[in-house]
Amino acid sequence: MSQGKWWQNVVMYQIYPRSFQDSNGDGIGDIPGIISRLDYLQKLGIGGIWLSPVYQSPNDDNGYDISDYEAIMPEFGTMADMDELIAEAKKRNIRIIMDLVVNHTSDEHKWFAAARQSRDNPYHDYYVWRDGKGDGDIPNDLQSTFGGSAWTYEPAVGQYYLHLFSKKQPDLNWQNDKVRHEIYDMMNFWINKGIGGFRMDVIDLIGKEPDKMITGNGPQLHTYLQEMNQATFGGKDLMTVGETWGATPAIAKQYSDPARHELSMVFQFEHVGLDQQPDGEKWDLKPLSVPALKQVLSKWQTALGDQGWNSLFWNNHDLPRIVSRWGDDGQYHDQSAKMFAILLHMMKGTPYIYQGEEIGMTNYPITSVDEINDIESIQMYHARLKAGYTKEEILRSINAKGRDNARTPMQWDTTANAGFTTGTPWLHVNPNYVRYNVQANLANPHSIFATYQRLIQLRQNNDLVVWGDYALVPDTADNVFAYYRTYQGERWLIVANVAAEDNVFELPDAVDEHIIGNYDDQDVKTGQIELRPFEAFVVKVR
Ligand code: NOJ
Repeated sequence: MSQGKWWQNVVMYQIYPRSFQDSNGDGIGDIPGIISRLDYLQKLGIGGIWLSPVYQSPNDDNGYDISDYEAIMPEFGTMADMDELIAEAKKRNIRIIMDLVVNHTSDEHKWFAAARQSRDNPYHDYYVWRDGKGDGDIPNDLQSTFGGSAWTYEPAVGQYYLHLFSKKQPDLNWQNDKVRHEIYDMMNFWINKGIGGFRMDVIDLIGKEPDKMITGNGPQLHTYLQEMNQATFGGKDLMTVGETWGATPAIAKQYSDPARHELSMVFQFEHVGLDQQPDGEKWDLKPLSVPALKQVLSKWQTALGDQGWNSLFWNNHDLPRIVSRWGDDGQYHDQSAKMFAILLHMMKGTPYIYQGEEIGMTNYPITSVDEINDIESIQMYHARLKAGYTKEEILRSINAKGRDNARTPMQWDTTANAGFTTGTPWLHVNPNYVRYNVQANLANPHSIFATYQRLIQLRQNNDLVVWGDYALVPDTADNVFAYYRTYQGERWLIVANVAAEDNVFELPDAVDEHIIGNYDDQDVKTGQIELRPFEAFVVKVR
């Protein structure tokens, strides 16, 4: 690593613990399971793990509803297991990034149990309470992200509490000093254990002002983050990434400009919304426009300049699998999976791989509501049925966008349950595990895994990949996404055909070296190139 911070030079890997590796046959992934797979992750070459929540939780939203921030969910193991994970990862140069879910707690957290007892309870003001507006009316029209009103009535105190997610996820009152300092103490508890940093769940909501109907990007948001920075991770060699659905490049700079002492980077979601109807919800589908994808990602590549840092991702535990979503999980499965890897990993920023992406895991088609675990899809299903949608329409949306698509168990090998568990898996295993699994990938030097591994090595060995300037190649065919990276006189050209059809690309430069590609027989030369379906390559040019 030549310059910059460690987190600017590495590739991160997200683990959804429930689905990664079970070690005790209860059908649920756990921390010892993760430890047993660290050698695999080291082989891939990643430098950090974003660990989705492992804290004590009643699992209304699979761990994003925390009832004790300083205890481990028994299904996942013990605090001793967690300490061992941090230590074993460190031995392999992998840092553990904890998921910090502090916009809300579980309703089973002891703070909320006390808060809901009476208005005089010292914890009452840890949460956001409002009186109803006459006749038992709700305080206002704020909606929960999972559907329905964001307010739930608590008879014991005669007030409503706010929950921007499920009613088992009451929002914390960030305007209360005590709340903020409890959270900072808890963060320091984890920092003292030697973690590498935090991924901050829906952090853009903590400055909310519900009476003004403001949820995201509230007026106090950045003041709180600066205070948090000072009280916890500031001045330490830790990385922080905020989940910020509403970020524009200007807002992202506010979070990640080093001079402002807030976060290392944020996840922006502009590209994620490109296949949804402009006035609709994520369930209202629209085909991806590749020109729009080029425009959005290029804007983010150039707009942050030196005042910010990008995170790069196609996938996480809330999004459908990229190969099914915008690639082709049939005929061109491997080519399209590799194309998306190359397209993203040659960009500027810190790439994130979501578990299973590196072996081309696909969406899991369901035919009935009984197969769904995810609270968001279940609530939407019932709400849309009531609103008059047909079951077929709803299932089409869930199969395209539902969060369970990304949550099926990791596919390790061809044994029962893909080697994930010896018991009954908590969520169905995708039957295509016999074909798409880690074992098969590791045995094949041309696998999707091998492509990711090589992309990570290219980043480690070439400052150009980390620091080079980005420039989109204009005027290409609509579905061809091509860009240059330039650094200290060296220039790489990245070309990707984001389509299942052939496309032509005019290569103006002299080619010095073929660096990586997704078809074995590429012979890239100056002039007209016939790109095959989902073909992608990187060449060094003059
Ligand atoms: C974002 C998380 O990624 C998602 O899984 C969760 O449901 C919400 N935040 C609420 O915590």
